[in-house]
Amino acid sequence: MCGIIGYNGVCDPKDILLDGLKRLEYRGYDSAGIAILEKDQVGVYRSKGRIQSLEDKLIGRHFEGSLGIGHTRWATHGAPNEINAHPHRVGSVTLVHNGIIENYLEHKEALKQLKRKITSDTDSEIVAHLFDIEIQKGKNLQQAITAVIPRLKGSYAFVVMSDREPDLLIGLRNGAPLLVGLGQNENFLASDVQAILHRTNRVIYLKDNEYVICKKGSIEVYDSLGAPVTFEVKTIHWTPDQMEKGGYRHFMLKEIYEQSQAVANTIESKINHEKGLVSIPELKPYLEQLKNLKSISIVACGTARHAALVGKYYIEKFARVAVDVDFGSEFRYRDPILDKDSFTLLISQSGETADTLAAEREAKVKGVKTLAICNVRESTLARESDIVLYTNAGPEIGVASTKAFTTQLVVLFLFAVELGYIRGHLSEQQAKDHTAEALKLPFLIESTLAVDNQIEALAPHLQKKDFFFYLGRDVNYPIALEGSLKLKEISYAHAEGYPAGEIKHGPIALIDKKVASVMLSPLANGTEANPDSMSALLYEKMMSNLQEIKSRGGMIITLGSGEDQILKKESDYYIGIPKTTWALNPILLTIPLQLLAYHVAVGRGADVDKPRNLAKSVTVE
Ligand code: AGP
Repeated sequence: MCGIIGYNGVCDPKDILLDGLKRLEYRGYDSAGIAILEKDQVGVYRSKGRIQSLEDKLIGRHFEGSLGIGHTRWATHGAPNEINAHPHRVGSVTLVHNGIIENYLEHKEALKQLKRKITSDTDSEIVAHLFDIEIQKGKNLQQAITAVIPRLKGSYAFVVMSDREPDLLIGLRNGAPLLVGLGQNENFLASDVQAILHRTNRVIYLKDNEYVICKKGSIEVYDSLGAPVTFEVKTIHWTPDQMEKGGYRHFMLKEIYEQSQAVANTIESKINHEKGLVSIPELKPYLEQLKNLKSISIVACGTARHAALVGKYYIEKFARVAVDVDFGSEFRYRDPILDKDSFTLLISQSGETADTLAAEREAKVKGVKTLAICNVRESTLARESDIVLYTNAGPEIGVASTKAFTTQLVVLFLFAVELGYIRGHLSEQQAKDHTAEALKLPFLIESTLAVDNQIEALAPHLQKKDFFFYLGRDVNYPIALEGSLKLKEISYAHAEGYPAGEIKHGPIALIDKKVASVMLSPLANGTEANPDSMSALLYEKMMSNLQEIKSRGGMIITLGSGEDQILKKESDYYIGIPKTTWALNPILLTIPLQLLAYHVAVGRGADVDKPRNLAKSVTVE
């Protein structure tokens, strides 16, 4: 995802904007830019690459202005180059954007009909045109924005400025974070508090569908209909330890929130942006072998094995290669039958799990190529495997694995798409479509994290439950396993993940009013238009399972896509994730389940980062 910043005060904005962008660089760094209003004219300065190259361009420059915006980019639409870098300026409007405008192509077509000159490949520039058109009709910036917002679909945070209104910035958010920093005769807008904490610790966190008029001495917040809303000013008091945790109470929560950035970092090195196609460099020397692959074994432990189970669905669907998944502790002792033309994949966050290491050595002894999906560079598993695909999630301190898991799913997804493409089971267009969906993930994850408050409010209602079922089907069944493990390992509650279709073969005997069932019932994009699809069929099957449980007095918590009115009506509690594809639903479903385990554990007073009896890496058998 991208980092955005705005400044409205009394100082030359250049160093404030560049310094703020450097503090946001973790959010994306393939290009950067700033725009500053000077003598009623907005100047835009952009560069490809890290923020340092932008700073080098502006060395020695001073500006007679005090209003500006800045952006550091993680490319989604359009290659990472200067033309596509933000800020984007159209007419009197200049803006920076974090997010994805889903319906930008239809607006782009309409602009072409109006003979508008479009210079970049980005969705952000299209929105700048829409604002400019409204201003050309005589509206001011606030009126232009409120006229355009209802026509935008997708997730976004914008900071917008206009030559014609030199005293204000407007910030708006829906699905991507944006906050206001309150200074002395200066105010800030930023994606993250880290960008401005050295200038002020008083912030206002905008909510979805709100916008702010930011002047150097005043702040006005409105809802998307233009009605003023009240806001709360929070004061950030971070101790050094909290600074280390980025202000979060636990490392686990910080790492849950880092998943958007972690996934972006994971995808970054596995995409050919020019072609818009997945391209994993580490696979290049093995393409011929991969083309003739007969089977794949995936071996891992704990959470990593749940990722392996999702990988099985991905690889068998996209590449039509048979996949066997096993526990490290079982694989290493059962003298497995491995085809010489097969690969064994090992998944491990730490790369030091004894049983997974032993499994890799067992496969090696049998003459099979080994491919590790690992988070820790130069770990034993990374060094001993033939191929290593890194998850680039950054250090994971919490014992309960969160960002490592979702980035493992992303690597498995990209691996399956590339494998399917090189084996001819996916057309180039299908592979490009899957790649485009993957590029949306950081934004979809940011939007999914918005359910945190809802889940925190839900957690106390679950404290008295004796037992939790986690139920899912198809590619979401392994996420039911992962959700139950998260709850077990940090809150010590009894929880079990099950294929939803399996509970009638015995486990349903456990259901009564002391049991809570968490049911994963998303719909894949396009299901509405295709009622005979597998996604629609499985959704109906989940509904039947829901009724089986409900009729026996069990509490029902469902996770579904968007605002699913049926699930809302039939469940005790409903949590909606953003609509996405069959393949990406498991990744988004994981986020609410991590948050649910976290808040239940905190409510039980458990040591979330260091749960009893556990270790971050099980280096013994
Ligand atoms: C995950 O929440 C657990 N802490 C545990 O199951 C872990 O996934 C397992 O021990 C494997 O660790 P690894 O990924 O480092 O190999």
